[in-house]
Amino acid sequence: MNGVPGASDRQGHAAIYPGSFDPMTRGHLDVIERAAAIFDKVVVAVVVNPQKREPLFTLAERERMITASVAHLPNVEVTHFRGLLADFVRGRGATVIVKGLRVVSDFESEMSTALMNRSLSAVDTVFLPSDPRWSFVSSTLVKEVYSLGADVAEYVPPAVLQVMQAKRPAPRPAERS
Ligand code: PNS
Repeated sequence: MNGVPGASDRQGHAAIYPGSFDPMTRGHLDVIERAAAIFDKVVVAVVVNPQKREPLFTLAERERMITASVAHLPNVEVTHFRGLLADFVRGRGATVIVKGLRVVSDFESEMSTALMNRSLSAVDTVFLPSDPRWSFVSSTLVKEVYSLGADVAEYVPPAVLQVMQAKRPAPRPAERS
């Protein structure tokens, strides 16, 4: 978004893409690639302690998997944050938060989160619709089907698959029952 009137004296638009990334999916990567084509800089911010549940992957693993998967995107940085997203966004001087929307239920929860974040930080959230190829892919489902023996290579970047396989080899079909 270069060339915005009045914005030439700023460092450009930095977007924060926050999430648990437990683990990163191809849907996440698609959102990052599209955001990187829109904004001057995209900061992928991994939440240290997700609210929902104890993460399967350590913070170091989650950051490493993302860093390897975005190596082809020069304007993407990977980092982590603790506490309020609004504080992190303000501290980084970011101008926008990016979130992907897969299904209608995402919209319901993301709307109030976006409004709360704007109220706390004066920073707006931009929603990118998920590519239909990935609209059914979530980190939770990927972990579930993988633990039951499914091949998830289609749903996660290669660097993520490697870490998943190293952490917990997928059971062979004969061991699935
Ligand atoms: O990948 P997720 O689980 O959709 O990511 C959720 C995340 C990390 C973006 C959200 O839980 C978050 O922002 N957590 C930080 C704590 C916070 O600021 N909570 C108030 C949100 S209004």
